[in-house]
Amino acid sequence: MTPRIVAHRGNSSVAPENTLAALVSAARADAHMIEIDLQMTTDGVGVVFHDHPLGRTAAGTGLLRDLDSAAVAGLDVGSWFDPAFAGTAVPLLPEVLELLRRYESLGLLLEVSGPWKADALARELATISDAGLAERVIVQSFALESLEISRDVAPSLQLGYLSATWGDSVMESCAQVDAQWCNVNWDVIGENPDVVEANRERGLRTMAWTVNEPEKWAAAIDAGVDGIITDRPDRLRGWLAARR
Ligand code: G3P
Ligand code: CA
Repeated sequence: MTPRIVAHRGNSSVAPENTLAALVSAARADAHMIEIDLQMTTDGVGVVFHDHPLGRTAAGTGLLRDLDSAAVAGLDVGSWFDPAFAGTAVPLLPEVLELLRRYESLGLLLEVSGPWKADALARELATISDAGLAERVIVQSFALESLEISRDVAPSLQLGYLSATWGDSVMESCAQVDAQWCNVNWDVIGENPDVVEANRERGLRTMAWTVNEPEKWAAAIDAGVDGIITDRPDRLRGWLAARR
């Protein structure tokens, strides 16, 4: 079966990661899903930003989570990628949900990143259900606590446990949070493709991250993954079409 094309931080090889430009580019490239990282500011607002420290995609020092939402709104997350993107702002979840409304078959893989307060995460996730988009969103995280909060406050959303390893403890973590997805680092699946079938036997589907080269896409398909998370969704789309 053909796996879902999941655009990692948007179409992040052609536009600055985790920006509306990258997310729109992924939608227009016919990605099945866009993946984003959502961190919490000091005033409890979700902001789309990957790194925990500032300095790579936005100027500054210290941690993003030590800023309030007004300070994050002033960040420029486009200049580092290319001067043409100067002044690009950090998106908020409502802007991403608006994109899902415009692109009716687009799904969202929402990574809950860094520490979150339960009430703040509940507010963010409620906007998904309120918008009638729950069926198109999967919440994933490395943090079991965030997944437990998500399960408790937003039971209609599917959950994915993110892991850089695989084994009994990962299976226990997936069971602990009632995850439907076990999203595993590609290097682990590349070395042991049986991971995908072992997940399936436990009722878990698998997305592999982050897979950017055709020979690895082929190996991921041979392993039976349900989704390929990639910085190059446009090229994966073309490569899949040429393979048929
Ligand atoms: O979606 C999986 C992947 O995004 C996890 O790693 O560091 O890119 O958020 P990272
Ligand atoms: Ca991520």
